[in-house]
Amino acid sequence: MSSSPNLSLSTRLISSHSDGRAARQTAAPVVHRGSTLLLSSASEIYDKSQQTYGRGGLTTHTLLRDMLAKLENAEDVTLYPSGLAAITGALLALTSAGDEVLAVDTVYGPTRRFLDGMLTRLGVTTRYYAPTAGANDIAGLITPKTRVIFMESPGSLTFEIQDVPAIAALARDAGVFTVIDNSYAAGLLFKPLDHGVDVSVQALTKYVCGHSDVFMGCAAATGAAAARLKTAYREVGWMVSPDDAYAAIRGLRTLHTRMTHHAASALAVAKWLTGQPQVRSVLCPALPDDANHTLWARDFSGINGLIGLELQPRFAPQVEAFLDRLSVFGLGYSWGGFESLAINANPQLTQRVCRSKSELGPLIRLHIGLENVDDLIADLDQALGSLNLGSLVTDRDASAA
Ligand SMILES: Cc1ncc(COP(=O)(O)O)c(C=O)c1O
Repeated sequence: MSSSPNLSLSTRLISSHSDGRAARQTAAPVVHRGSTLLLSSASEIYDKSQQTYGRGGLTTHTLLRDMLAKLENAEDVTLYPSGLAAITGALLALTSAGDEVLAVDTVYGPTRRFLDGMLTRLGVTTRYYAPTAGANDIAGLITPKTRVIFMESPGSLTFEIQDVPAIAALARDAGVFTVIDNSYAAGLLFKPLDHGVDVSVQALTKYVCGHSDVFMGCAAATGAAAARLKTAYREVGWMVSPDDAYAAIRGLRTLHTRMTHHAASALAVAKWLTGQPQVRSVLCPALPDDANHTLWARDFSGINGLIGLELQPRFAPQVEAFLDRLSVFGLGYSWGGFESLAINANPQLTQRVCRSKSELGPLIRLHIGLENVDDLIADLDQALGSLNLGSLVTDRDASAA
């Protein structure tokens, strides 16, 4: 392309490019946008050793993938336009018609929707196992059709920790791929690949991006699984915007610092909640009395900001009133951002929780954000206080009846 002065202005404007003279290098990376890559000669177009089109990702994507590979100790990382797309992408890459997936019963709801919906339509069936199942129980479920064991630990909403190293070891012996949704750990608190898992998937939407303004997911993989993911990635054509990749890079720089704050506040809130009379149990694996504490302490280096709050059963009719009284906590899905959030995670409503935990009473999921923890506790205190009053009325009404 030429911008010779003999050409018309419109052609010269269209053909204008930076002359490549760099200013000083900036501390922040360049957001490298582009679909067309200009070749230096016509023959390069069929040169397999050269990148000839932007869809494979440019320097911003490459930097993000390198950083995530370091985080997860992975050979390769593929990027997807959401956390759910990373989960479905990994499953599509690893399975074929006639295969079976063994999935933990506490998978994130939309993961189950994909397994029971599109993946079933493509000829891949799923059987679910309880999150409390040990490696021996799972070994007994493996058949020649089993291609993938899909884990999520802690389980969505009910926080059961699985014995991931033991499950990964048995899967490896049986020639079965293992995939884990590692969004809880943000790639930081637990390192699945170090424990023999083939693919660690996470919703970067959560803690990595960290500001509730980006959707993105990644799959960090090793060995044969990494090769399968790479091929599928090229075949399907997933791509994320370089601006979003930039936001994820920025998030990674403060991930450790933010996670430390989330964890300290979440533990303080969890401990405070355990002393409140309206509370039946607090689901948080860092609490020494939590049923998952031992496995968590063995494999994880910390908690994130998520806590399950189970109210006394008699408060079931007042869960929504309790949530509506919160003012520092926002009401809404997602987690991992700077803000505190609460949702009604009642097992009867969500239909997503494990059958083995269905005895749980009214359940609320809290995400503890980066606000001052005393303000968060005060907000919960006033909302629980209103519950108490409501329950007195209910109990009086009940005894009068
Ligand atoms: C455990 C878990 N995995 C995956 C996802 C999906 O992430 P995304 O919203 O980016 O699709 C979520 C979202 O809430 C989640 O909670």
